[in-house]
Amino acid sequence: MQEFFYDGDLLMCEGISLREVGKRFGTPLYVYSKHSIVDHCRHIERAFDGHEHLTCYAAKANSNRTILNIISREGLGADVNSKGELYLALESGFPPNKITFSGVGKTDDEIAYALTHDILAFNVESREEVEILNSIAGRMGKTGRILVRVNLDIEAGGHAYVSTSVKQTKFGIAWRDAGGLLKWAQGLPHIHVRGIHSHLGSQIIESETFVAAANALARLIDEVRREGVRVQDLDFGGGFGVQYRGYVKHAKLPAEEPEALNISAAILVKTVLPLLKRTGCRISVQPGRSIVAHSGVLLTRVLYRKETDEKVFIVVDGGMNDLLRPSLYDSYHQIVPLELTGAAHEQVDVVGPLCEAGDFFARDRQMQRVERGEYLALMCAGAYGYVLASNYNARPRPSEVLIDGDVCTVIRERETIEQL
Ligand code: LLP
Repeated sequence: MQEFFYDGDLLMCEGISLREVGKRFGTPLYVYSKHSIVDHCRHIERAFDGHEHLTCYAAKANSNRTILNIISREGLGADVNSKGELYLALESGFPPNKITFSGVGKTDDEIAYALTHDILAFNVESREEVEILNSIAGRMGKTGRILVRVNLDIEAGGHAYVSTSVKQTKFGIAWRDAGGLLKWAQGLPHIHVRGIHSHLGSQIIESETFVAAANALARLIDEVRREGVRVQDLDFGGGFGVQYRGYVKHAKLPAEEPEALNISAAILVKTVLPLLKRTGCRISVQPGRSIVAHSGVLLTRVLYRKETDEKVFIVVDGGMNDLLRPSLYDSYHQIVPLELTGAAHEQVDVVGPLCEAGDFFARDRQMQRVERGEYLALMCAGAYGYVLASNYNARPRPSEVLIDGDVCTVIRERETIEQL
């Protein structure tokens, strides 16, 4: 599973030194390991231990076509959030009957496009959305299969922006309204009610949070079944947390404590599976981060060392436009040199070239002293990395490269300034 590791003092991805990759393709650069993506898919699938289920990869985490194609070949389905993601999923080989469409704001055009392709289900979030789906499906002579997303009002996720199942957020239908909505929807001519969906949030590392959700869903399903609603499908969402701290290890690296011991999507799935099974529903999950986060890194190169009275700044050639997570959520990405030189450790801020004080990758971080021209890797950047990249400050988005053994393939060309 761990395809990024030090061979002596050089950071490798599978069979290739990342320094060679950085030199060959330039920086900033996203680099992915094909074996890691495949292993993470299989790891989750094995956690179900033969129990019938559907894993729909949350395409928002990384929607590069080549990566989607690797995941579809593993037999997974996809969960999409827009017409664009649906288009990419279809183009990348996901069969429509393994695609779900989530999101609080589907447009009429998106609904019609999804109906045309007969996707498995819409995870709906409001009564008005169901009405519109019913009327568009009626006009098209189709039926919209739905799961109702329930807001369980459970605090989850590392950052408020990714805690999506508390009642102050825009997501889902309140528990007390779910039964009524499902019953009403069952009576609509162009809607087929399949079941219930919940997605708690992202980067959740406590198994108790998932257990609480599974118990709440089981109770809700009992309740609505008593009211005469047929519930066949239970989509448990995603959100399985991953290790960011201390991901790669070497005696020459400063020690970093992982955020939790042995967290993995497979362990979290195994914990809740017995509870979900008791509902008798067909179970699906929507992991995004836990499939691709560990499969990618962002390579960047040191432009300048800038020492002030307050700090040492390591100014690099990648910025918040390439990887937004540290600026937006204060997320932690381990940052390691591609070559360990044995230089002393020092405390630094790693910052990008953009015009904002919020343009940083790390603050007050212990790192080996690095000089102009050296390369750094921001680890665990395979999820919510490139997909959140922008052209801020008119900077072309970076290139993406896939490594398979000792073969390196460009899976997205670097943008040029002419494309801006
Ligand atoms: N299902 C739904 C309905 C979702 O909204 C999401 C993520 C997922 C599944 C997948 O969650 P995951 O397994 O990846 O945690 N940009 C943020 C994360 C936003 C998550 C949005 N929804 C970040 O970089 O941390």
